[in-house]
Amino acid sequence: MRSPHLVNNVASLACVAATLVAGACSEASTGLSAPPNGGVVLDGGTGGTGAAGGHGGASHSGGSGGTDAAPEFYGPEHLSGTGLYSDIASKLLADDIIEYDVRYPVWLDGAEIRRFLRLPAGATIDTTDMNHWVFPVGTVAWQEVSTQGKRLNTRYSRKLATGRNGWERVAYIWNDEESDADAAPGGRSNIRGTTYDAVSSLDCELCHVGGRDGINGIGAIQLSTQEPGGSLDQFIERGLLSDPPAAGFEVPGTGVVKEALGYLHGNCGACHSKHHPLADIRTMRLRLRVEDLTPEDTRTYQTTFGYNANHYLEGTRVIVTPGSPEESQLFARMNTRDPFTQMPPIGTEVVDAHAVEIIREWIEGLDP
Ligand code: HEC
Ligand code: HEC
Repeated sequence: MRSPHLVNNVASLACVAATLVAGACSEASTGLSAPPNGGVVLDGGTGGTGAAGGHGGASHSGGSGGTDAAPEFYGPEHLSGTGLYSDIASKLLADDIIEYDVRYPVWLDGAEIRRFLRLPAGATIDTTDMNHWVFPVGTVAWQEVSTQGKRLNTRYSRKLATGRNGWERVAYIWNDEESDADAAPGGRSNIRGTTYDAVSSLDCELCHVGGRDGINGIGAIQLSTQEPGGSLDQFIERGLLSDPPAAGFEVPGTGVVKEALGYLHGNCGACHSKHHPLADIRTMRLRLRVEDLTPEDTRTYQTTFGYNANHYLEGTRVIVTPGSPEESQLFARMNTRDPFTQMPPIGTEVVDAHAVEIIREWIEGLDP
């Protein structure tokens, strides 16, 4: 767990959160030089109530402060009420549940993740725009997060109304018997005797408003898991896509280039995309498009090499300095869990050491 900080990252996030709620975000509230109490108050401070989903105040720490007013959540109180299981005691999934995998999983401090989806009977995902799938109202997705076989929380997103803000989200925290899990809209820290924190419903939103719809991993690139009979093939075979693609999609490049682009797409592209409110105040983009055929086509290459970041950080002003990870802020921010500067800014307290090595090798291999 971690206590709240009124800082750089957090101010920018609160700013983004304020945008979600009120449509207002100014660079003034994101500067390092902002005084500690200079405007952005974290504990429930951004005020207002979202039109859909009922997002209350902003909380960096996933509600671990204890005094945060929990965001409102009107969905089922218990996981057993969400339709995932036909028998939760034996963990038997309901008949209409689709289990799937993604190629570039989100890093949750090493936890294992299972993913489930349910579409309304007979409905399809609108895949006319292959880069931005749109889900039918009534779609439900779950992410079951465990460590060493112990269920920690199951994250839940349900589409209540059209538009990327039309989702309700919450983390359900499993009880010690694993007989059911309870909704925790304010988040909870150190669940089930681990150091893992469940994030608040507002924090969910910060990562999930980045696409044209509120889903991060169920898309053309992420489902192209490459093995025959992988998730994309299964979605096509089951007739779940309105406009099925003829074949799966490849991330451009080979070796460590491909791995780096895929990782950044999967873990960073949700926020660093042109559809996220953050795009108004930052130009860097890390989300891939299906038409990106070479590394040079990607906005990752086009918006990071030689570009200055907004803040100076440990000797790194430039986002990516080809040939030099030490002079690349993207590398520095991934390689720290200083809450002032870490990336991703929420939902993780442990550096993804394997990914950091991939990014190091990738940057070292780039021609200066
Ligand atoms: C740090 C960013 C981040 C935060 C915070 C976050 N998510 Fe996600 N989430 C992702 C990414 C990235 C994926 C897709 C990759 C994957 O499935 O591994 C994802 C996938 C999901 C999925 C599967 C459907 C989909 O969108 O792909 C669900 C359900 C989900 N998240 C719910 C939640 C809920 C509920 C919360 C809050 C309790 C939450 N998430 C917080 C980044 C985040
Ligand atoms: C929850 C949304 C979110 C996710 C996920 C996220 N970031 Fe960020 N990122 C931000 C915000 C907000 C800022 C602005 C904060 C600041 O300037 O200090 C930012 C700033 C940055 C910057 C500085 C950009 C600039 O122009 O100043 C870099 C580099 C960066 N992020 C890299 C990453 C990487 C790499 C990942 C994935 C490993 C990632 N981010 C994931 C929200 C996010």
